[in-house]
Amino acid sequence: MRALTVEPGKANSISLDTVAEPAAAPDVLAVRALALGICGTDRDIIAGDYGWAPQGKQRLVLGHESLGVVERTPKESGFAAGDHVVGIVRRPDPVPCPACASGEWDMCRNGRYTERGIKEIDGYGAERYTLKPGFAVRVDKALGLLGVLLEPASVVAKAWDHVNRIGRRSRAWAPRTALITGAGPVGLLAALMAKQQGLEVHVFDRATAGPKPELTRQLGGTYHVGDFGGLRPDIVIECTGVGQVVLDAVKAAAIGGIVCLAGISSGGHNFDLDIAAMNKQLVLENGLVFGSVNANRAHYEAAAQALAKADKDWLARLISRRVPLDRWREAFEIHPDDIKVVIDFTA
Ligand code: BGC
Repeated sequence: MRALTVEPGKANSISLDTVAEPAAAPDVLAVRALALGICGTDRDIIAGDYGWAPQGKQRLVLGHESLGVVERTPKESGFAAGDHVVGIVRRPDPVPCPACASGEWDMCRNGRYTERGIKEIDGYGAERYTLKPGFAVRVDKALGLLGVLLEPASVVAKAWDHVNRIGRRSRAWAPRTALITGAGPVGLLAALMAKQQGLEVHVFDRATAGPKPELTRQLGGTYHVGDFGGLRPDIVIECTGVGQVVLDAVKAAAIGGIVCLAGISSGGHNFDLDIAAMNKQLVLENGLVFGSVNANRAHYEAAAQALAKADKDWLARLISRRVPLDRWREAFEIHPDDIKVVIDFTA
């Protein structure tokens, strides 16, 4: 079968290879790929800046944003042939640490977790793969290819889960405004979930043309370019990872506000940061800045509900290009109006 593979640490080593079929085992779902979403992490791995091959191997099957159809199931797995499923990305560390032991592998305490298509386990960028039922999440078939948005949506569902739990540090927490910085797929999904919670939604991005301003307006949100228009948001979900935007977002947050950093920085840009001034603001205003990565099963399930409730036409516009596997190279090109690019395994 065909699979997209890379040699982690080596720039531009990606190729479409013929690899062995997944080994048959009695306790796993046999899944045929329908679609694979591409994200910044995949680009970092392709650039040689991130990613780890499985132990004893040189190459890693790329891909962690999956959508597949179940072909065979073990008895009493809770799944049936024909179900659409998304594979969970992370696997608990082998110790396991207390977080992984309790199913919160997204909060792994020793860093020895593994991730399909990213860290030491082959990913979902293959025509066929297997999944243990505990790491498969059923998605509404009515979503069709849009089910591939579940993994990025799970990352956002975790960010919101933690914002809301942290918010409860004050009995008076009643947030009204949310600012989302970055109108990529993660940012727009964060904006969708903000709207679903009844918050006033603001989205900041540098794009002045293309679909992002309109997608924000269709959610009933306000789109900002250049600055945040004097907004003091109760909640910020920062999805750009750009240093200056992170700093501006922290400065803009309302008194007692919460800033969740969900974008991974590429690094390399220096700018002035007055740590003492930031310390003063955070202390005197009970400010809170925290990071959030990955997602556990509960977040995938919350994300599946959020997608099921969303307007399908709006969601469909998040997928800006579908590229057949044969033309996979095009999926990694950067087009100005791209939001989410998906490799279509059925085309
Ligand atoms: C994935 C997460 C993963 C993170 C770090 C992200 O692109 O969506 O599941 O934990 O990369 O490897």
